[in-house]
Amino acid sequence: MAAAGSAVGLGNIWKFPYVTGENGGGAFLLIYLACILALGVPLIMAELAVGRGARRSPVGAFRALAGGAWPLVGMLGIFTGFIILSFYIVVAGWTLAYVVFTASGQLTSTDPQALGQAFGGFISGSYLPLGCAALFMVATAGVVIGGISNGIERVSKLLMPLLFALLIVLVFRVITLPGAAQGLNFYLLPDWSRVSADTFTAAIGQAFFSLSLGMGALLTYGSYLNEQQHLPRSSLSVAGLDTGIAILAGFMILPAVFAFGFNPESGPKLAFITLPAVFASMPAGVIFGVIFFLLLTVAALTSAVSLLEVVVTYLIDEWYLTRRRATIVAALVCFAVGIPSALSQGASDVFVINGVPFLDWMVKLTDFLLPLGGMLTALCVGWIIGPRAVALARGDRNGFPLATAWLWMLRLAVPAGIFWILKNDLLALAVWLIALL
Ligand code: TRP
Repeated sequence: MAAAGSAVGLGNIWKFPYVTGENGGGAFLLIYLACILALGVPLIMAELAVGRGARRSPVGAFRALAGGAWPLVGMLGIFTGFIILSFYIVVAGWTLAYVVFTASGQLTSTDPQALGQAFGGFISGSYLPLGCAALFMVATAGVVIGGISNGIERVSKLLMPLLFALLIVLVFRVITLPGAAQGLNFYLLPDWSRVSADTFTAAIGQAFFSLSLGMGALLTYGSYLNEQQHLPRSSLSVAGLDTGIAILAGFMILPAVFAFGFNPESGPKLAFITLPAVFASMPAGVIFGVIFFLLLTVAALTSAVSLLEVVVTYLIDEWYLTRRRATIVAALVCFAVGIPSALSQGASDVFVINGVPFLDWMVKLTDFLLPLGGMLTALCVGWIIGPRAVALARGDRNGFPLATAWLWMLRLAVPAGIFWILKNDLLALAVWLIALL
């Protein structure tokens, strides 16, 4: 449940709908689902098995089970975690602000222009968005200082069904709006002419981001699991829950985008301009809106905690910092790195590079770094840890019928698939590294 709490967050409700919108809808959805099943599920199991087997945080786990240069994969994960958390707190800050904006009745319009301006106005005043991000970072750090396992699991158990129920209600509201059908077509009918190499990069990045995969978060959570836990089943349920919630979020946002006349290619602000229109068009919308943004803030918190936890356990295990000191250092650095993201979305073009806002660059970087970490993890588990990994994945249970197939997927299919999708970016990285040397 804690892993599911880590997986379900802004990735599902904020990122998935806007990335689907930017990438043409239906065809993207299918590629995304293929990435989850073929690449995501085997890798979730790999991370959980390594974490449980080594009973250590990522760097130490790779050192103990594989040795050589493999701990660098753990380091890459720490770096990736920093990058993600730096913009995650910014968007979670928006969610927090929208709880208040909705409660105060400021957002009762269904007009795309008015809602776009409301968001733009909020985001351009630099202090409020930064303050909200800071507040969220403090909350995340507070949970991490307190130690995680119990609290997070309890919160997740309560939160997930509530969020699920609320999503169902909102989906019903949205698909009965006049004009919603066009959005359903966009979402469900694949238009293959919209597919390019970038569609695949976006899909794999979204899949890994949403599953919390490729930087050691699930590995860390795996280190808290006992030998009885059935890993194939856990992996499938984390993937199923997470994907189910993302798909529902798509049904909530994309038809509304078309019904109210928003632009599906609005980028990171899409959910924040569209959802207020949905709430404005329903009875007791203010109440639904406040509850929704609150639940989303808590879902974001359980995810952010898993990101910070990876960095903090690393500082504790490898640098012998106390938990409190490690958390404070990590949170401060992370907030500092997040400042350009927070300031990049306004009307002015500070922190806009080549026409792309800093936050969007961070997302792009994540879309590359997570699959890269996943590819290296698959190679390490498949070839270096090898059959020992099967024993770790089994634990004290025998029921793992597809063990050999799993191992060979990690050896061949998963790395090859990721490599094929990342090949252009990897080439660019290689050229850049050679130039640097
Ligand atoms: N999966 C979370 C979401 O969808 C974000 C997240 C939490 C994450 N921990 C992670 C992403 C680790 C990548 C790696 O909002």
